[in-house]
Amino acid sequence: MSVTAAFDAVAGSYDQARRRLVPRFDDFYGTAVEVAAPPLRTALASGRTPEVLDLGAGTGLLSLLLTAAVPGVRVTLLDGASRMLAVAAEGLAARGVAHRTVVGDLTDPLPAGRYDAVVSALAIHHLDDEGKRTLYRRAAAVLLPGGVFVNAEQVAGPTPELDRRYDEVWVAQAGALGSDDAEIAAARERMRHDRPAPVADQCGWLVEAGLVDVDCFFKAWRFAVFGGRCASA
Ligand SMILES: C[S@@+](CC[C@H](N)C(=O)[O-])C[C@H]1O[C@@H](n2cnc3c(N)ncnc32)[C@H](O)[C@@H]1O
Repeated sequence: MSVTAAFDAVAGSYDQARRRLVPRFDDFYGTAVEVAAPPLRTALASGRTPEVLDLGAGTGLLSLLLTAAVPGVRVTLLDGASRMLAVAAEGLAARGVAHRTVVGDLTDPLPAGRYDAVVSALAIHHLDDEGKRTLYRRAAAVLLPGGVFVNAEQVAGPTPELDRRYDEVWVAQAGALGSDDAEIAAARERMRHDRPAPVADQCGWLVEAGLVDVDCFFKAWRFAVFGGRCASA
């Protein structure tokens, strides 16, 4: 089963399991929102509708949080799983958020447009390292001056021993949050598609892509939020 088919298969129950499977959910997604928000607020203050591109948007968790924090944003959601996007479209429409959904692969040309923020959560780690690196360059190229790229991501440990610890801690935390063995086993099955990379490597690729003020803004074991800014004109 492909990674997108694996997510389509759980589209109906995906959101309920997230708070159990992503420890420190509010800090993790909340940091991504804080990183992405400033250029959106600047655009609104100048009378322009800010444009956001959400890569691997799934059921729209990050887009929903971002548009709740900064109302008046228009979001483009890209994902290869059409059922995940259908859930996202329903949620965004119910909240009156301007949006378009694009079914496509992260390796396809990005949806046309220039964006105040390109955001992503827990999706880019499905690409191999060259795919991530190329995507970071393509994401940087569609940012408006002053625009922000942020990735709330599952990362690899910088050494095999730390990576093993990341996994051990994740299982313990997910269990403490109420995930049972079946839920963890199902998540592990989807994680067979994962190709996470260490956060330091990924920040280096963002610098290489031409972004400035690159930083890791949040990190708790395997969950990290990192990004950078397109220099102002
Ligand atoms: C763990 S979910 C994350 C969804 C959402 N961003 C969130 O934070 O809940 C990963 C998503 O990435 C999508 N995805 C993975 N690889 C992809 C690819 N190569 N092209 C397009 N979408 C992909 C999957 O379909 C899935 O919806």
